[in-house]
Amino acid sequence: MTLEEKLGQLNQLPAIGSPTGPTASREGLAGVRTGRVGSFLGIFGAEYTRDLQRIAVEESRLKIPLLFAWDVIHGFRTTFPVPLAEAAAFDPELAERSARIAAIEATANGLHWTFAPMVDIARDPRWGRVVEGAGEDPYLGSMMAAARVRGFQGGDRVTSFSGPSALIATAKHFAAYGGAEGGRDYNTSELSERTFWEIYLPPFQAAVRAGVGTIMASFQDIGGTPAHASDWLLTDVLRTRWGFPGLVISDWAGIEELIAHGVAGTKGEAGVKAINAGIDVDMSDAVYVDSLAQAVRDGRLKESVVDSAVARVIRLKQAMGLFSDPYRYSNVNRQRDLTYRPEHVAAARAAARASIVLLKNDGSTLPLLKGLRTIAVIGPMADDAQSMLGSWAADGRPENVVTLLAGIRSAVGTATRIIHVRGSPVDTIDRRGFAAAMRAAAEADAIVLALGERADMSGEARSRVSIELPGAQLELARAVMRAAAGDTRRPRKPVVAVLMNGRPLALTGLSETVPAIVESWFLGVQHGVAVAEVLFGDANPGGKLPISFPRATGQIPVYYNHKNTGRPADSTEIYRSTYMDMRATPLYPFGHGLSYTSFVYDSLRLSRTTMGASDTLSVSVSVTNTGSRAGDEVVQLYIRDDVASVSRPVRELKGFQRITLRAGDVRRVTFRIGAEELAFYDAGMRRVVEPGAFTVFVGGSSDARMSARFAVARDTLVVENAPARLR
Ligand code: NOJ
Repeated sequence: MTLEEKLGQLNQLPAIGSPTGPTASREGLAGVRTGRVGSFLGIFGAEYTRDLQRIAVEESRLKIPLLFAWDVIHGFRTTFPVPLAEAAAFDPELAERSARIAAIEATANGLHWTFAPMVDIARDPRWGRVVEGAGEDPYLGSMMAAARVRGFQGGDRVTSFSGPSALIATAKHFAAYGGAEGGRDYNTSELSERTFWEIYLPPFQAAVRAGVGTIMASFQDIGGTPAHASDWLLTDVLRTRWGFPGLVISDWAGIEELIAHGVAGTKGEAGVKAINAGIDVDMSDAVYVDSLAQAVRDGRLKESVVDSAVARVIRLKQAMGLFSDPYRYSNVNRQRDLTYRPEHVAAARAAARASIVLLKNDGSTLPLLKGLRTIAVIGPMADDAQSMLGSWAADGRPENVVTLLAGIRSAVGTATRIIHVRGSPVDTIDRRGFAAAMRAAAEADAIVLALGERADMSGEARSRVSIELPGAQLELARAVMRAAAGDTRRPRKPVVAVLMNGRPLALTGLSETVPAIVESWFLGVQHGVAVAEVLFGDANPGGKLPISFPRATGQIPVYYNHKNTGRPADSTEIYRSTYMDMRATPLYPFGHGLSYTSFVYDSLRLSRTTMGASDTLSVSVSVTNTGSRAGDEVVQLYIRDDVASVSRPVRELKGFQRITLRAGDVRRVTFRIGAEELAFYDAGMRRVVEPGAFTVFVGGSSDARMSARFAVARDTLVVENAPARLR
């Protein structure tokens, strides 16, 4: 290979838009012939990818096949719930199944590679990309990361569909992208090395352990070095400590942006820094292909560094079988047969149902009766199909979405009249629709308020300074409640708010206004079917929050696994770590979610109360469904290290199980605790299990009170030596 051909393999070109969909530019087509392009971003379709592949393998000198990559985040054509929603299901197998189906459809449409899962921990809901991850917790985040990687890549559970369906996954954005200061996208992450290792890195390590094929660097700076130039991150941590054998890709223009970061003066310098740090593939800015040949000739870059990166690209193409059959992913029959199959839609419906979280349900407002004469569906989100698809819906189509309005209509049938009124826009103040909304509320027997944020208000570069319900929606809810009450102070008719949003919202005002709140996120093509099932009691909600919902924006960050401080907030004294004007706790904590039935926990038992640092113990608890209908409960286990050499969080999630219990059923749920669950980074950043007292908490949310104590006896166990220090 010539040096130019090698650099071509490292060059990923984006598609350009055209009336028939995304295509390669003229320059891109020429580049395929001359070996200047190794992969494309955003190009798909069996026929078109076959055409491009043919040019690569017939008309270029080396005949190296292309890779086609795209952001297949929560489904390809069959759109599943957004990742944050699906994390609320607390069901890794379900997430694996969704990712598997996304992979089957994407690979049948010519794609080899997805830029998912995003495994960034997010503690700041102002950050719009919170929608793409699994929330605030490193344990849940790690389980979801591994599950999604297995699902995309095929893991050990490839389904019965024949043909190639392995979609190479990408764990992104490495690392601490979610730590953006102020929740402003792309902003610097200013955090301690401890927080970095304990909170932000575990999901990446879980993805690596699950065999993820590629890693994408993050846009932001950490500790003075942008991730795209961090050999500490991309080489010391990723390759040396974790032994990652795969490919590292830049984020869009992330190499060129080293100039704006102020660590490179020219594109050439930026390229040399990035490739030396460990970025193999250059996404979209063509820095490598334009400037690294000269850098090698000038002696500023060793050709062996280029060779290693190229070898990783070639190995990936080989592993995908493209050298033996470059067209294996570009088959029109598979595309026709495997896209948007009925069983995919059924799986999307199951995932949507499992992701719904019942936040509030005073006086059993829900479920609603089906035989009502009139239901008012009020609010700007009720028929917004585009939003229900979510913020990154790949080839998902609004016409395939069953909206909330349509879902309600089909659940109740023609005997019930549905009055639909928008009432107000989503994010501008306009009260002209209030009067019609109030008339509908007065007339109806039950009211569903469809409120929230449009899908384009979360996602990349969609940070918000305030996470309150936008526009005049809270006012609309208040007006509707007044109208529903008529002459009395409390309405006798049920009123429920169904929320759609890609981030936690501060719901204090709404929770004081309406008796019931359903968090429906963006659930994909089956949104309305799943929510209607929950509203009318055909399904019992069982999701739990994967991220805390603050009382107000000013409380951010608020997360359950915080430190106790020397002056914890739960006190009536003034000199405490709290606020003057609001409680410091979240409105709805991590792990919270209600059900139409009730669960009682009892008989918490530990297999032993003293253990050695490398022993294990089991924790078991009985859970009884004491209500009158079947339901799901997410049984959660938290641990606190009561006294340690460094301060530890008040509690940390270390186990969960989603179980289904029929009315009256009892289940004993068991968790295992060993060194992996007890280890933390000591003052010298060694991962250790220290002797001393621990408390376990078990229950249905991070507020769980049921607890037991045990002790680790004798010596400290060093689980892992300290990593290389951040530089
Ligand atoms: C930028 C985003 O940060 C990244 O997540 C995505 O994969 C690329 N654009 C490509 O679309």
